[in-house]
Amino acid sequence: MQTNSTIFVAGATGLAGSAIARRLSNSGYRHILAPNRQALDLKNRIVVDRFFKAHAPEYVFLAAARVGGIQANAQFPAEFLQENLSIQCNVIDAAYRHGAKKLLFLGSSCIYPRLAPQPIREESLLTGSLEPTNQWYAIAKIAGLKMCEAYALQYGWNAISLMPTNLYGPGDNFSETQSHVLPALIRRFHEAKRGRAESVTIWGTGAPQREFLHVDDLASAALFLMEAYHSPEPINVGSGMEVTIAELAESIKAVSAYEGEIVYDRAKPDGAPRKLLDSSRLYALGWRPRISLQEGLRETYAWFETHHAHARA
Ligand SMILES: NC(=O)c1ccc[n+]([C@@H]2O[C@H](COP(=O)([O-])OP(=O)(O)OC[C@H]3O[C@@H](n4cnc5c(N)ncnc54)[C@H](OP(=O)(O)O)[C@@H]3O)[C@@H](O)[C@H]2O)c1
Repeated sequence: MQTNSTIFVAGATGLAGSAIARRLSNSGYRHILAPNRQALDLKNRIVVDRFFKAHAPEYVFLAAARVGGIQANAQFPAEFLQENLSIQCNVIDAAYRHGAKKLLFLGSSCIYPRLAPQPIREESLLTGSLEPTNQWYAIAKIAGLKMCEAYALQYGWNAISLMPTNLYGPGDNFSETQSHVLPALIRRFHEAKRGRAESVTIWGTGAPQREFLHVDDLASAALFLMEAYHSPEPINVGSGMEVTIAELAESIKAVSAYEGEIVYDRAKPDGAPRKLLDSSRLYALGWRPRISLQEGLRETYAWFETHHAHARA
């Protein structure tokens, strides 16, 4: 990528897309296309084709998707599958047909089998059954990375697929029903502190282990891999550090200075028992995460404190 290359970031109003657009602009790239959904509905094949015909981006970061936590997946299975499949098919196919040099597709660690050996290597893909609570989204993401692989095989086109672990950071979705565990907890502790609530309730037992990566580290890995990685094989992007949900709750309680109790609602599902990615393929290329979870939580909580009035919630 040159600083005057035409670069399209799909999903630039989202957590990952906004971090990638931010990093591109801070790295001196001057021609970044970042239309929002109102300007370009990626589910609409005709407008997507027209956009690529008009702008012919050389590099594409596909960070647009219908994303959500366990509750949202359970409530909207059809939409999660249909929307993600159509966004991916429209953007990947149009990028190829309109001569893009390279496309980077963002998948997710939920593509891997629920009981894959830990830490999860890329080779575990399609070796066992998926976590049922988010299978619709996972199937769509598997179709996306396979589409990149198929276009690379049939046309010799340069498309790569990143499998990030759980992301967090400024600009996340903090809604009670649609968000992932980390932003949901930030919001819950913040409101409990402001409302002087006696306790905060956490879904499940608190025992599941999770890996988190700050979204600015993800953006740095994405720019690094756009330059350094040319295989259609998926590549994991993780921090290599995992915590239990209970430890995460305690850390967020500390950064929010909440003084009440933490209560566990064991009637609610825990989701997968553990989900740690093996990111040695990426680390072997020379990339390493920079932002520790404690540092990232402090920064994200501070961001939420100042933006919660108009944050996605
Ligand atoms: N968040 C995570 O923990 C995580 C972990 C691993 C991988 N990922 C991957 O990272 C990618 C981005 O996720 P995220 O967390 O950044 O999600 P997000 O914050 O919800 O952002 C999704 C983006 O996609 C856009 N979008 C959705 N449907 C669209 C449509 N029909 N037309 C145009 N734009 C549309 C959204 O626009 P609006 O703002 O208008 O809704 C938003 O900009 C996804 O592929 C996801 O699989 C995320």
